[in-house]
Amino acid sequence: MTGDWLPDLGGRPCRYFAQVPSTQDIARAWALEGAATGATVIADEQTAGRGRLGRTWLAAPGSSLLLSIVLRPALPPEELGRVTLLGAVALAETLAGLGLQPGIKWPNDVQLAGRKVAGILAEAVWAGDRLSAVALGIGVNVRRDALPPEALEAYRATTVEAALGRPCPRGVLLGDLLAHLDAWMPRVREPILLETWTQYNVTLGRRVDVAAGHERFSGLAEALDDRGALLVRQDDGSLRPLLAGEVTILDEA
Ligand code: BTN
Repeated sequence: MTGDWLPDLGGRPCRYFAQVPSTQDIARAWALEGAATGATVIADEQTAGRGRLGRTWLAAPGSSLLLSIVLRPALPPEELGRVTLLGAVALAETLAGLGLQPGIKWPNDVQLAGRKVAGILAEAVWAGDRLSAVALGIGVNVRRDALPPEALEAYRATTVEAALGRPCPRGVLLGDLLAHLDAWMPRVREPILLETWTQYNVTLGRRVDVAAGHERFSGLAEALDDRGALLVRQDDGSLRPLLAGEVTILDEA
């Protein structure tokens, strides 16, 4: 693979790899070398792609959008969760622009018809005890063969092309996604980001089961706070903020 599918990225610093362990690692190293905000790492294949909570991210070579963007958001460390929300919103808008109806499951799954089509992974890059950057990783299943059929079933996953019912060039998707990300970046601290996330979300107002570390609890997903934490109303009436964890929607069809 040659990367000849990549769109014109203007002056954006970009590194393309036919194969790489994980674009996240390249972005992290590049950030520490001083990459500017918006610098983008793209791969056709990852041999050690990773997701949240230590999971593996699988994608057939050339089937998916696999990218990591170096961001230097003006955010206090406790609000870094907003970068995940920003990635999900930018991708949801990109898919909506194709005529699809995406949903966002807190914090990082983008879904089509209740199935995961993409995941977002925001990793902080520290230089000593100083927050240097965020590596925002995005993986989108584009082609129908992104995952074997049994894996699509097992993960309740789907692909852009299956949902669209027609081919979707990755270059077009990438160009649109980067444009949406660039538009949101200066607004990462604004209330409109959370409002837009809320419009796409499929989590709020639902009963959820939460696994956070060794703990499990359930409750009603009530709202987001300013940090992007999910506020879960537990059965004893208390409101519990969740900054990280796995959420299962209990009343899902
Ligand atoms: C998740 O749903 O858990 C997040 C998945 C993030 C996957 C992307 S693919 C590009 C980038 N490189 C990685 O190793 N992971 C992210």
